[in-house]
Parts: sequence; structure tokens; C-alpha cells
Amino acid sequence: MSEIGLFETIHSARAIRHFRPDPVPHELLTKVLKAAIQAPSAGNRQDWLFVVVTDHAQRRRIADIYRRASAWVREVYLGNRRPTHMTDEQYRKFWAGGVYLHEHMGDAPVLLLPCLRVAPRVLPESIPAQVRVEMESTARWVAGASIYPAVQNIILACRALGLGTVLTTNHVILEAEVKRTLELPQDVRTFGLMPIGFTDDKFGAVKRRPLGEVVLHDRFGNPWRS
Ligand SMILES: Cc1cc2nc3c(=O)[nH]c(=O)nc-3n(C[C@H](O)[C@H](O)[C@H](O)COP(=O)(O)O)c2cc1C
Repeated sequence: MSEIGLFETIHSARAIRHFRPDPVPHELLTKVLKAAIQAPSAGNRQDWLFVVVTDHAQRRRIADIYRRASAWVREVYLGNRRPTHMTDEQYRKFWAGGVYLHEHMGDAPVLLLPCLRVAPRVLPESIPAQVRVEMESTARWVAGASIYPAVQNIILACRALGLGTVLTTNHVILEAEVKRTLELPQDVRTFGLMPIGFTDDKFGAVKRRPLGEVVLHDRFGNPWRS
């Protein structure tokens, strides 16, 4: 298996939702996990935990939670419109893939849950009340910034090694059940549920909105010109 270059990896790391049942060799998973922990985190705290679920019964339990949580998310999506940058066909495929995974999460030979310990920060008395309020509310808002860079490393490492994966988050609606199943301590929160495995799907190039629509140069209204 030959690994591919960084930019090809980035441009072709499509969401993969169909998995072959073949087990993923332990060394490959270790390589993916080593890539994960090279990521940055706030204050270099590395308060992360990565739960790798390969046991068949555990996978089925987690998949059942994902399936039930996804039924609620599906109701929300049914009320949403297709994003204008996607064609009907692209949206149909996205939807079909998502719904397939709702029922088949447990088919992936590996389920990886990136987690963080999220103990509340004790702020010093010297901080003014208004600033404390801002610090406390924004802390929750940016908490994921200390785990999602690791998630992206996982996505890219999987792609480079020929493994499929996708970041999913529907399970958080029923996170208490997930935590009970995995016997996770109170202060650990799960930020994703990533099926990993070999796939018969094609990686292909991801399709994204053009730079000119999403990048601003110096100020709002002045699009980036490539
Ligand atoms: C924060 C986040 C949450 C996501 N949650 C789910 C999910 O619950 N289920 C799912 O099938 N895909 C989920 N995805 C995957 C997105 O649908 C996918 O990244 C997007 O459609 C682009 O797919 P592509 O890379 O194949 O173009 C999530 C992605 C992100 C970044």
C-alpha cells in the first residue's frame, strides 16, 4: 500500500459511509491514532481520549444509539432545503448515504470516538464580571477546537492509508447512553463517532463551493480572487 501526497489526500478525503467487514490491521489503526495525537490543542493540554471500538457487541450497541438519534436528525433534515451549491443528484446521494449509515453504523469494523475531558475552568477573582461571562460562554463555544484538528488528522490519515471514514455527530443527542455503554467518566464528552474500514466506494475529488464565494480579502464584500 503506497501512501499518497498531502494535497491529493486533502482533495480526495470524501465522506465514506459504506464499509467492508474485513478487520482493519492493528498497525494501521495505530498509525491513524498517532496522526490524531499530533494535532494542536488549546494550551497544549491534550485532554483528549480516543475510544476505539472493535468488539462486535459494543459496536452494535453504539450503532443502535446512532440509529435512534439519527431518526430525530432525519426529521430536522426533512424540513431543510437542499443547499443551493448542491445539485439535486448530489443532494440525493448525500441524503441516501446519510440514511444508509443511520442503519449501518455497526457494519464498520471500527468505531472511533474522539473525546475530550471538559472540566470547567476556575477563573481568577481578578477577572471583571463581564469578561468572566464572556470567557465562560465562549469556552463552551470553542471547546471542540481542541479535538476537531485531531479528527481532521484522522480523516486524512485514513484516506492516505486507503481507509474510509466520516465524522458523524448525531449520537450526541443520546450521549449519556453512549457514555454509559463505554463506561466513560463524567467529565469526558464525546465529540464524534467515526466509522472506519476498508470500502468499495471511490474516494474521488470532493466538491466544494468556489473560493470566491467563501473567502474575503480584507473586508466583507471583497471576494478573494484566485
Ligand atoms: C460537524 C460535522 C458533523 C457531521 N455529522 C454527520 C452525521 O451525523 N452523519 C453523517 O453521515 N455525516 C456527517 N457529517 C459528514 C458531512 O455530511 C460531510 O462531511 C459532508 O457532506 C461533505 O461530504 P464529502 O466530503 O463527501 O463531500 C458531518 C460532518 C461534520 C463536519
